[in-house]
Amino acid sequence: MRATPDAIHREPDAPAINIASLREAARRRLPRAVFDFVEGGSYDEITLRANRAALDRLRLRQRVMIDVSARDSGTTIAGEPAGLPIVLAPTGFMGLVHPDGEIHAAIAAQASNVPLCLSVLSVCTLEEVAAAVAKPIWFQLYLFKDRHVSQDLLQRAQDAKCRVLVLTMDLHMEGRRDRDLINGFTIPPRFSLLRAFLSRPRWALAIKRNRHKTLGTLERYVAGPPNLTAATKWLAKELNVSFDHRDLEWVRRNWPGKLVVKGILDAEDAKIAADLGADAIVVSNHGGRQLDGAPTPVAAFPKIRDTVGDRVELLFDSGIRSGLDVLKALGLGARAVFLGRPFLFGLGAYGEAGVRKALEIIAGELDVGMALTGVTGLTSVPRDLVLGSD
Ligand code: FNR
Repeated sequence: MRATPDAIHREPDAPAINIASLREAARRRLPRAVFDFVEGGSYDEITLRANRAALDRLRLRQRVMIDVSARDSGTTIAGEPAGLPIVLAPTGFMGLVHPDGEIHAAIAAQASNVPLCLSVLSVCTLEEVAAAVAKPIWFQLYLFKDRHVSQDLLQRAQDAKCRVLVLTMDLHMEGRRDRDLINGFTIPPRFSLLRAFLSRPRWALAIKRNRHKTLGTLERYVAGPPNLTAATKWLAKELNVSFDHRDLEWVRRNWPGKLVVKGILDAEDAKIAADLGADAIVVSNHGGRQLDGAPTPVAAFPKIRDTVGDRVELLFDSGIRSGLDVLKALGLGARAVFLGRPFLFGLGAYGEAGVRKALEIIAGELDVGMALTGVTGLTSVPRDLVLGSD
């Protein structure tokens, strides 16, 4: 039985045709502070914009002399079979985008045969989300100062049957998110619930009625009342700024499953991660939310691919908005992509159905893209699929 309806809002008769229309639907349904938290980047959002510009500049090689009647978008990601080369990226506070958002996203991911990577900053607990679906979810960890907390989380992920751990390494400190400061989406939260009630009553009522009032997965470690103020204050204090390759080594020793290192943009870091036993690397600038001015994954990919591409799987993250973007990422040498905001827009717009819609849109675009580029399978995409910029 589900804890909340899968959608606060039903999809209208005119269905979303692309991710931009899901974004617009989410914008109309979410309070400004929540929408901006999802969409925004850090500082001047230079890297956020560059992620899109870099993908837009790439061209795909059109091929016509190939029979493309049989196409297969299935693959494996970190050894796990998937129907699409897509992972739903770990995104914290999903339960604010939609009540029980993590559970709805997990159900939608399973229905579309792609993995959901649950953020450690989830509102629903790891155990609840894992129990809501038959297929194992992935789990994403930030390391905390207290080793016992990190150790306990690793054990809980194993107990919840997670086989893939994503260790995010690009958040020693949080990049300043100016939109959040303006909107009061801060630690402690200063955005007015009353204003949210007046502007988006359905969202506000659904969130207020929800049983979760804090970051569920971390709740047991936080002293104080079970609310977001206490949880986010704890987080600000406990995130590990001293985090380095020795911590990666420690995680590798303590995690028996597949290990994916997220947040790599530099070939030297990629080499260290590969040397220390990472199974995959997510080339990512955190969706433009951390170092403003960091390279785009499009720019960072070739050197990383040439340095470690024969040793670890490479995953592309930051800026993907369509199936054609997915194809471009695979053309650069990625095994699969992480998808962040597109599925959050779907979740904010129509709950579980919206996440399925986002994946359906991207799958459709990818399929047509494969047909028009003469690509019939995704496990060995031609190296010259991407032509570079005009
Ligand atoms: C994130 N991201 C993120 N990453 C992570 O490792 N742990 C987390 O808790 C979060 N939280 C989070 C919240 C929100 C609202 C967003 C938008 C993003 C980053 C995420 O995993 C991913 O790297 C980016 O979202 C990818 O960029 P796109 O697809 O959103 O452009």
